[in-house]
Amino acid sequence: MNPKMQRIIRNPSFLLLLLCLLEFSGHFPVEAAIKKYTFDIQVKNISRLCHAKPVVTVNGMFPGPTIYAREGDRVIVNVTNHAQYNMSIHWHGLKQYRNGWADGPAYITQCPIQTGHSYVYDFNVTGQRGTLWWHAHILWLRATVYGAIVIMPKPGQPFPFPQPHLETNIIFGEWWNGDIETLVNQANSLGSPPPTSDAHTINGKPGPLFPCSEKHTFALEVEAGKTYLLRIVNAALNDELFFGIAGHNMTVVEIDAVYIKPFTTKAILLGPGQTTNVLVKANRPPNRYFMAARPFMDAPVSIDNKTVTAILQYKGVPNTVLPIFPNLPAPNDTAFALNYNNKLRSLNTVNFPANVPLRIDRRLFYTIGLGMNPCPSCVNGTKLVASLNNVTFVMPKTALLQAHYFNMSGVFRTDFPDRPPKPFNFTGAPLTANLGTSIGTRLSRVEFNTTIELILQDTNLLTVESHPFHLHGYNFFVVGSGIGNFDPKKDPAKFNLVDPPERNTVGVPTGGWTAIRFRADNPGVWFMHCHLEVHTMWGLKMAFVVENGNTPENSVLPPPKDLPPC
Ligand SMILES: *[C@@H]1O[C@H](CO)[C@@H](O)[C@H](O)[C@H]1NC(C)=O
Ligand SMILES: *[C@@H]1O[C@H](CO)[C@@H](O)[C@H](O)[C@H]1NC(C)=O
Ligand SMILES: *[C@@H]1O[C@H](CO)[C@@H](O)[C@H](O)[C@H]1NC(C)=O
Ligand SMILES: *[C@@H]1O[C@H](CO)[C@@H](O)[C@H](O)[C@H]1NC(C)=O
Ligand SMILES: *[C@@H]1O[C@H](CO)[C@@H](O)[C@H](O)[C@H]1NC(C)=O
Ligand SMILES: *[C@@H]1O[C@H](CO)[C@@H](O)[C@H](O)[C@H]1NC(C)=O
Ligand SMILES: *[C@@H]1O[C@H](CO)[C@@H](O)[C@H](O)[C@H]1NC(C)=O
Ligand SMILES: *[C@@H]1O[C@H](CO)[C@@H](O)[C@H](O)[C@H]1NC(C)=O
Ligand SMILES: *[C@@H]1O[C@H](CO)[C@@H](O)[C@H](O)[C@H]1NC(C)=O
Ligand SMILES: *[C@@H]1O[C@H](CO)[C@@H](O)[C@H](O)[C@H]1NC(C)=O
Ligand SMILES: *[C@@H]1O[C@H](CO)[C@@H](O)[C@H](O)[C@H]1NC(C)=O
Ligand SMILES: *[C@@H]1O[C@H](CO)[C@@H](O)[C@H](O)[C@H]1NC(C)=O
Repeated sequence: MNPKMQRIIRNPSFLLLLLCLLEFSGHFPVEAAIKKYTFDIQVKNISRLCHAKPVVTVNGMFPGPTIYAREGDRVIVNVTNHAQYNMSIHWHGLKQYRNGWADGPAYITQCPIQTGHSYVYDFNVTGQRGTLWWHAHILWLRATVYGAIVIMPKPGQPFPFPQPHLETNIIFGEWWNGDIETLVNQANSLGSPPPTSDAHTINGKPGPLFPCSEKHTFALEVEAGKTYLLRIVNAALNDELFFGIAGHNMTVVEIDAVYIKPFTTKAILLGPGQTTNVLVKANRPPNRYFMAARPFMDAPVSIDNKTVTAILQYKGVPNTVLPIFPNLPAPNDTAFALNYNNKLRSLNTVNFPANVPLRIDRRLFYTIGLGMNPCPSCVNGTKLVASLNNVTFVMPKTALLQAHYFNMSGVFRTDFPDRPPKPFNFTGAPLTANLGTSIGTRLSRVEFNTTIELILQDTNLLTVESHPFHLHGYNFFVVGSGIGNFDPKKDPAKFNLVDPPERNTVGVPTGGWTAIRFRADNPGVWFMHCHLEVHTMWGLKMAFVVENGNTPENSVLPPPKDLPPC
């Protein structure tokens, strides 16, 4: 080797460049990297809609920081709590194989991090790539404590769609002018729902249809002819949202960090908890175009039509040009919603197969109900509740995963019913009598590696409504869905067992049902709940205790030393 070359190779920055080139060309077995983050939970004054108020944040940011990782990386997040509330963080959609200790739902997998204390979430990102998100999983603190998780494919692995010129996060949220915990406590003492939010937001900003939004509008500058990847997250608490961009189509390429068969649409729909990646080509005359989101609501409850806007702005177009508004589906457009969800199909290629369980070991049927239980201190002597198979879940005082791991008795029972105690015409005329539920911390015990089919059936108890259901610890396949009562004789014949969408959160249609399948190969205690915060609070939740397999490699890992005590 000539001396000049030797000098270059001894130069560390050259080596780094060489490593990067090798990494990108995929010739080099690259060690998994460790990505370290520090989350300082702190209260900060934030101002929106002409109101300033102290809110709980991560590192003073609203929304919080984005976690970037590659498939295969280890992520270490040291969370220190300086807020007056107890805190826990959930990494929504990360499977946390054998590692429920890092999942985060308070009192399910961990006791919360108390004020002045730290806890380190330490997890591997295995077999997943795409957009997910993180959020507080205690009280209603996720109203301001949330952010995106971007998982890039392994080095040298391109996306299975055209490489975008640039990518950006689009995170929907909700903003209340009042203090959210105060509003929730007031509502609970009345036994009624808390008020709907005062605005929807995109990346924390409500946009120009709301007052005092000059500084609070998100804008994405684009160059004509280029393609952009939008990583869209619905972090709203209680609203399913339609989203569209004036004049532009979107090509949907991924949902909940799973690639899908691309399709083109003028609008997309996300339930709270869901994520969607779309490609957008800047192929329209240079101008300013609104990106807008507003709720989808087809139940007989009041419609919240507040529209958040952001701006897609072509380079060189002055800020004074009035943006063009998109043509979003009507808030009650059930047909659009059903049709959109029907278009979602797993990519199902050799590299990204859809391993749908075909032989089912255990069939579950859960009814979703709203109800009214006695509440002597409430105004009308009753409070609104929600239930699965008529069980309103009661939060324990000790974390369930600890109780399970350490064989503590008396914390939970494992008699959650596999089907509703009393069958009825689930989606017939609204039922307003017999609205009581039974209450308890009841879990469903599942043998390791069994295959589960779960039908989630909405009911007419009090009212029908659509419910975005989220399962922790797993992705599942959405094999079928329909309106009315699930028919066990006819509906299974229509299941898609070839390329159904694989996700972690799925909407159960208003007055309808959804069928999901998964293999219970992740031992631990895994929460399943409606991702409408108001329904979670009312008890629309349960958990699976998935037993250990018969080897240490199929068993729950030992808890970390700094696991918070209760
Ligand atoms: C936050 O804003 C409120 C209302 O404007 C004000 O009273 C308070 O002093 C502010 N707190 C901090 C820490 O800036
Ligand atoms: C986490 O952060 C806190 C606060 O800075 C610090 O005291 C603690 O040592 C950190 N923990 C680890 C494991 O680094
Ligand atoms: C993450 O992966 C590393 C390397 O394979 C392993 O040593 C570690 O135990 C894993 N951590 C968890 C929480 O699974
Ligand atoms: C109490 O009942 C009345 C009459 O049914 C109803 O209008 C009101 O909204 C109820 N209040 C609450 C807090 O549920
Ligand atoms: C959007 O897609 C529709 C249907 O595929 C098509 O008719 C229309 O031309 C497309 N618009 C743009 C701007 O690409
Ligand atoms: C929302 O509904 C209200 C009342 O029905 C109406 O006045 C308002 O124009 C609607 N706003 C939007 C953005 O559709
Ligand atoms: C949707 O709402 C519009 C306006 O309120 C109403 O005219 C229409 O009948 C509704 N459509 C359905 C299917 O309920
Ligand atoms: C809990 O019980 C199981 C089965 O009896 C046993 O294998 C395990 O070691 C116990 N765990 C602890 C932490 O005592
Ligand atoms: C359930 O109720 C619906 C609507 O009232 C009715 O059309 C249907 O026949 C009922 N089904 C049964 C099995 O009674
Ligand atoms: C639910 O349980 C309560 C309390 O046991 C009972 O009164 C009610 O009839 C049950 N409702 C249904 C739909 O099973
Ligand atoms: C789970 O069961 C499937 C099908 O029987 C089998 O292929 C797989 O190896 C099992 N997984 C584990 C971890 O035992
Ligand atoms: C925080 O959690 C601890 C332990 O569960 C509990 O004793 C305390 O009351 C909680 N603090 C608040 C502010 O809720």
